[in-house]
Amino acid sequence: MNRSQRRAAKKQNPAGGLPSATPAQAPGVDLFALAVQHHDRGELTPAVELYKTILDRTPSHAAASERLALIYLAQGKRDKASVQYAALARHVPQSLGSYVRIVETLKNLIPDLAPAFTNASTASLVYLLKKPGVENCTSIAGNDYFRCALESTVARDVALERWLTALRAEILGAALADEPPTDDELLAFSAALAQQCFINEYVFAVAPDERQLAERLKGLVVDAVAQATTIHPLRLISLAMYLPLHTLPGGSAIAERSWPGPAAAVVTQQVLEPIEERQLRASMPRLTAIGGGVTAQVRQQYEENPYPRWVRLNAPPATLRILDDYIRQQFPTAQYRPVGRRDSLDILEAGCGTGRHALEVTQAYRGARVLAVDISLASLASAKRKTPPALAGTIEFAQADIMSIGSIGRSFDLINSGGVLHHMGDPLAGWCELLKLLKPNGLMQIGLYSAHARREIVAARKIIAKRGYPSTPEGIRRCRQDLFNGPEQFKFMAMSDFFSTSDCRDLLFHVQEKQFTIPEIKEFLTENNVKFIGFDFPRTIHQHHQRVFANAGWSIGNLDRWDAYERANPDIFMNMYALWMQKN
Ligand SMILES: C[S@@+](CC[C@H](N)C(=O)[O-])C[C@H]1O[C@@H](n2cnc3c(N)ncnc32)[C@H](O)[C@@H]1O
Repeated sequence: MNRSQRRAAKKQNPAGGLPSATPAQAPGVDLFALAVQHHDRGELTPAVELYKTILDRTPSHAAASERLALIYLAQGKRDKASVQYAALARHVPQSLGSYVRIVETLKNLIPDLAPAFTNASTASLVYLLKKPGVENCTSIAGNDYFRCALESTVARDVALERWLTALRAEILGAALADEPPTDDELLAFSAALAQQCFINEYVFAVAPDERQLAERLKGLVVDAVAQATTIHPLRLISLAMYLPLHTLPGGSAIAERSWPGPAAAVVTQQVLEPIEERQLRASMPRLTAIGGGVTAQVRQQYEENPYPRWVRLNAPPATLRILDDYIRQQFPTAQYRPVGRRDSLDILEAGCGTGRHALEVTQAYRGARVLAVDISLASLASAKRKTPPALAGTIEFAQADIMSIGSIGRSFDLINSGGVLHHMGDPLAGWCELLKLLKPNGLMQIGLYSAHARREIVAARKIIAKRGYPSTPEGIRRCRQDLFNGPEQFKFMAMSDFFSTSDCRDLLFHVQEKQFTIPEIKEFLTENNVKFIGFDFPRTIHQHHQRVFANAGWSIGNLDRWDAYERANPDIFMNMYALWMQKN
């Protein structure tokens, strides 16, 4: 590929920051440029053939996948486009990262679904679900991309949540009929909805009469399990829309039966995987004792509600990251001493939760060797179960308390701890413990709550305390519904954490939360002789802030400027202060 072809391919890559191909997939690169040329000239037939060839060789080629889907959409072939978008989501899960984009794609693929994003009209949803679609579009239930999205990520849209909630109640009614429907598409869609309910931990509202019906269904299924009699797949799947199957008496016996495909996927998710996590939990290495008091309370919260709730790990980046290059690129004017580790990097992920970030870091850095610790065994077991075999040799999960982490006798080039210290009894003491584990020139990235950005959360916590919602699944469900229907639409109600039980508990009901300001952070860094390198943001936001600082003639490393800037823009750290630093 010559330079202008490369430029054209880069310009035309509609997959934004998604990986286009890994180096091992290099044979596809020339073909892609050729495909793009045909595509741009409107020669769709050869473009389609070339994109398909590339995807046969490299199913994770995001740009080819998305371009092919776009051609199908432009040609009005919505079913083919759905299959292609679903393939993209399965091979490159980061394509599901932007919920706005998921919704746009769904509206393009299934015009009949558009009302679900504006109001929850409940006029026979099952009918709507099964209605043959507009031209070149099967029913909503038959849409591969919709099902894939429900199985892969938490639905983060209030109107869609209401629509799905109403649909769930209708499916429950159908499952309780004397002869439940046996239609394959309905079964497959209901299974995707059951998986969505498990992913969001049954956060949808349940009306009292619906709860009674769900209890009746539970009785039928439990009896059938005990007596080893037949269970209709739609009944099992419908029950899985209301509770996780592994919690049923004799639940593990469900996995010993043979089920049709969609029900089998639900059984894997709700019976087999929880069993595997229980086993992993029992064998988890324990590196330190775990403190009592606040630490014990925080641990209890995360044993009950591990964080974050996630399903698919992003595909690895096309080129592996080298820490020094990354810091230079992100913070070109920062004064820091190079870490100097280009081929291997010892990393500590302190408070790794369910491991998403730790695993992403493991697959991002060249030569990464990662120790990921947490106090919650449930979180660690979930992280370990989700570790892809390719990473199993380079990441180690273990239970440890940051307050005692010095006793492990190890040191690291990079220490990450995002969203952890502010849940400790003494966050600054925990921060000092981590600093002691840095190798000379090592770097640290810490995520801390901003008092300015969390002001709405403070207001919501006051409402929660006043109304006395408990931090149980039922209390969280009630609180969410009351907030939906209340006079004030808080900004956090659009955050993904609001849409699953564990993450909502973390967001609004935490047993321990401390917030910080930039002057407090500055004071800590000064006292501990630590150099601030910069704040991390998603790329486009980062570039925006860099421009603002450059135009104003401010140094990007000046924390006083950042403090003033945040006061004028109090939401910029909604996702926490994510700061990079180095010990002097
Ligand atoms: C909000 S979660 C963040 C998880 C992960 N860092 C992320 O950003 O996705 C906070 C995690 O910190 C862990 N944690 C809290 N106190 C800790 C301590 N003293 N030592 C180790 N981990 C701790 C909790 O168990 C929990 O999993």
